[in-house]
Amino acid sequence: MLRACQLSKAFGGLSVLQDVSIDFHPGEVHALMGENGAGKSTLMKMLAGVYAPDGGSVAWRGQPVRFRTPNDALSQGIAMVHQELMPIPDLSVGENLLLGMEPTNAFGWVDQAALHTQASAWLQQLDTDLDTRRPMRSLSVAQMQVVEIAKALARQADVLLMDEPTAALSDHEVTALFKAITTLRQRGVAVVYTTHKMDEVFRLADRISVLRDGRLVCTQAALEFSADSLIAHMVGRELAQIFPPVTTTPGETVLAVEQLTREPAYRNISFTLRRGEVLGLAGLMGAGRTEVVSALYGLQPAASGTIRLRGQTLELRSPIDGLAAGLAMVTEDRKGSGIVPAMSVQHNLTLAALRQFCRGAVIDATAESSTTHKATGDFAIKASGPGQAINQLSGGNQQKVLLARALLTAPAVLILDEPTRGIDIGAKAEIYALIGRLSAQGTAVLLVSSELPEILSLTHRILVLRQGELSAELAPRQTNQEEILRHAMPR
Ligand SMILES: Nc1ncnc2c1ncn2[C@@H]1O[C@H](COP(=O)(O)OP(=O)(O)OP(=O)(O)O)[C@@H](O)[C@H]1O
Ligand SMILES: [Mg+2]
Repeated sequence: MLRACQLSKAFGGLSVLQDVSIDFHPGEVHALMGENGAGKSTLMKMLAGVYAPDGGSVAWRGQPVRFRTPNDALSQGIAMVHQELMPIPDLSVGENLLLGMEPTNAFGWVDQAALHTQASAWLQQLDTDLDTRRPMRSLSVAQMQVVEIAKALARQADVLLMDEPTAALSDHEVTALFKAITTLRQRGVAVVYTTHKMDEVFRLADRISVLRDGRLVCTQAALEFSADSLIAHMVGRELAQIFPPVTTTPGETVLAVEQLTREPAYRNISFTLRRGEVLGLAGLMGAGRTEVVSALYGLQPAASGTIRLRGQTLELRSPIDGLAAGLAMVTEDRKGSGIVPAMSVQHNLTLAALRQFCRGAVIDATAESSTTHKATGDFAIKASGPGQAINQLSGGNQQKVLLARALLTAPAVLILDEPTRGIDIGAKAEIYALIGRLSAQGTAVLLVSSELPEILSLTHRILVLRQGELSAELAPRQTNQEEILRHAMPR
C-alpha cells in the first residue's frame, strides 16, 4: 500500500540515497537496517513528507503522491516518530501528545480535563503513568521518547514510521512498545522500523530491508536472515569480533567517590575507579545513573559527599571544572547537552580541547584542521568535510564526533553515558575496541549503559544502581543479565 519507487536524494550535490524501491504492506513490521549514514532516516523522511525526493516517487494506496509537509502525510494516515526528538518544551506532556488534535468543549476551547484523560490513556498503552501536566522540558530523554511514540499512536495512522524509537528506552518500556506494535500490526497498520539493536529486529520484524551507502542491498523475510548474515549485509564484510577481550589489569585508585548524595535522585554513593579499569554502571531508567555521573563531571553538583581525583578533592561547579581536572564526559543526550548544532564538525570536535590549538591569542588553524582530519579518520566519521554543520550528520556520526571530542582532552577519567546509543554495529565494534585501547593506556573508564551485553563484556567490575542507591557490585565474568536485572528492579 505504501511504496517507495526508485527514490533518490542528494544534499548539496552529495548523493545519499539512490534508486531505492521498497513495498510496505499493511499488518507488517518492516525493519530498515544499515550502518550510520546508510540513508535510513532520509528514506523515512521522504515517505513522511519531510523531504521531497529528487528522483523517483512515493505511491500511496496505488496513487503517486507528493507530500509537501509532514502534516500533509499525517492527514493521509502516515505518521513518523523521529530519531532526533522535537518536543515543544514549554507545553505540557498532554499538550505535546495531542498537539493539533486537542479535544474541545462546546465553546470551542481546549477541554483540559479531557485532554489529560486522553493523553494518559495513550501513555498507558505504553505502560507509562507519566503526569501529563508536567512541562515537557522537565522530562528525561527516555520519557520524551515515550511521549513521542504515544503521540504517533494517538494519530491512529495507517503507516507508522519509527526511527530508532527504543534508543533511550529501558527494557520495561521496550516491552510495552513491542506489545503496542504487535497490536497495531494485528489492526493492519504498516510499521516501518529502524534500530541498531540487533536483538530487536529479530523479535519484531516480518521483513527486513538492508541499506548500504544509500543503496538497497536486499529485502527479505526476517526468517531468512541470521544475525551474522544480516550484519554482513549491512557492513559489506564479515565482522570477526564485536567485543575485544578484557586483558588490562587495573592499577592504583584514580577516582574515589564517597557518600555522594543529592536527594531525591541518589544517596550515599561510594566507589573507587582504578587506572585502566573499566567500571560498568547498570540500572534501570530513572535509577539515577545519569544524575550520579552529572555530579562526577560537574554538570549538576551533588548536595554532599566528596569526589577525589588522584587524592585531590575536587570542587566541581561546571563541566569546565571537570575537564580542567581531567574528567571527560560523553553525554546521553547529544542534542540537549552534547553538540552545538549550528557549528561545523571541526568546531564541535575541537571545542573542549581548544586550548591545545592556541598559540598566544590566535588559534593554530593548521593544527586544528590536521587534528580534525586525524579524528575523522580514526573514528570513521562520515561527513562531506570538516566544515559541514554537525546537525546534517546522521545520528550515529554525531555521536562519534562527541566521543572523539572527549578523547582530544586526554582525560584521566572518561565517563561514557550510553556511548553507543544509535550507533551501528560496525561503529560499535570500533568503539568497544577503543575502550579496550584506552584502558590499556591507563585511562579509567566509567561506562553507563543499558545494553547489558556491553556491560558484561567490556568491564572489570559492575555496579548496579537501584532507586538512587548502589544495590550490588558484581564480577562480569561471574554474573549474567538476569542477576543484574534482579539487583536493578525497584523493590
Ligand atoms: N539535511 C541534510 N543535509 C546534508 N546532508 C544530510 C542531511 N541529512 C542527512 N544527510 C546525510 O545523508 C546521509 C544519510 O543520512 P541518514 O540520516 O539518512 O542516515 P541513517 O541511515 O539514518 O544513519 P543513522 O543510523 O546514523 O541514523 C549521511 O551521510 C548524512 O550526513
Ligand atoms: Mg538515522
